[in-house]
Amino acid sequence: MTTKATRAVGVDIGGTGIKGALVDLQEGKLLSDRVKVKTPAGAEPDDVLAAVRSVLDTLGVTDDAVPLGVAFPAIVKNGRTLSAANVADTWIGFEAEKFFEDGLGREIHFANDADVAGVAEARYGAARGADGLVLLTTLGTGIGTAMLHNGILIPNAELGHLQRANEASDFEAWTAYSAVERERLDWPTWVARLQVYYSHLEFLLSPDLFVVGGGVSKHSDEFLPLLKLNTPIVPAVHRNNAGIIGSAALALAQETGTDAGGVAQDLVDTTS
Ligand code: BGC
Repeated sequence: MTTKATRAVGVDIGGTGIKGALVDLQEGKLLSDRVKVKTPAGAEPDDVLAAVRSVLDTLGVTDDAVPLGVAFPAIVKNGRTLSAANVADTWIGFEAEKFFEDGLGREIHFANDADVAGVAEARYGAARGADGLVLLTTLGTGIGTAMLHNGILIPNAELGHLQRANEASDFEAWTAYSAVERERLDWPTWVARLQVYYSHLEFLLSPDLFVVGGGVSKHSDEFLPLLKLNTPIVPAVHRNNAGIIGSAALALAQETGTDAGGVAQDLVDTTS
């Protein structure tokens, strides 16, 4: 049964959209409709804050009765955003957690978007109970990556920004799903790029499992089976909702001082 003590709200700020929902953390399922607005052009802090507020208003979350987790597409360390690949440069070195807490008038849990998606998949999804090294990658506007070892998150892995050999661009620019849209790539061309990327990750890190998230993971049948790897590669169970679920899970864990359920306690505070 879902009680107030097992619910939290997750908001996932992405380069293209800002999505939120109320989540049941007993089951790892959305309890409300998913509310989505476009990320404001330029993604400056004030505009992103206003968009987050509108998502919360639509969800009817007007007080701090339930914990709130906010995920952001940048390195997050001690509440500060330290990078800005798909948002305004203003976020670099910005006290983002405090900014959202002041602007929303409440406490939040604040973390990197791929990291929280990794937590969601480790607790409720494709990486549940997985031993060894799990690499979750999200293929969207950017490439987000989360590294979990025996269920413990090693935060702020930025493996989408690995540089390609002898090329000016990094893997994110070449391999994210946004490259498919921007360059109108067909599946075989994109799969060839993914093959280079995942082979490189496999060589560098010898993972035990790859989990692939992001909106495009709903079409995973069309590309994951075509990759030739020694490591199993599976779609994220929660696809594009993993960021919402994981940020809600960490917000609840922060508020109750409990672990995030199968994910070690010491990760809970690493990013906030
Ligand atoms: C950012 C990451 C983020 C990813 C997915 C990248 O450009 O550097 O922090 O996780 O995009 O949003």
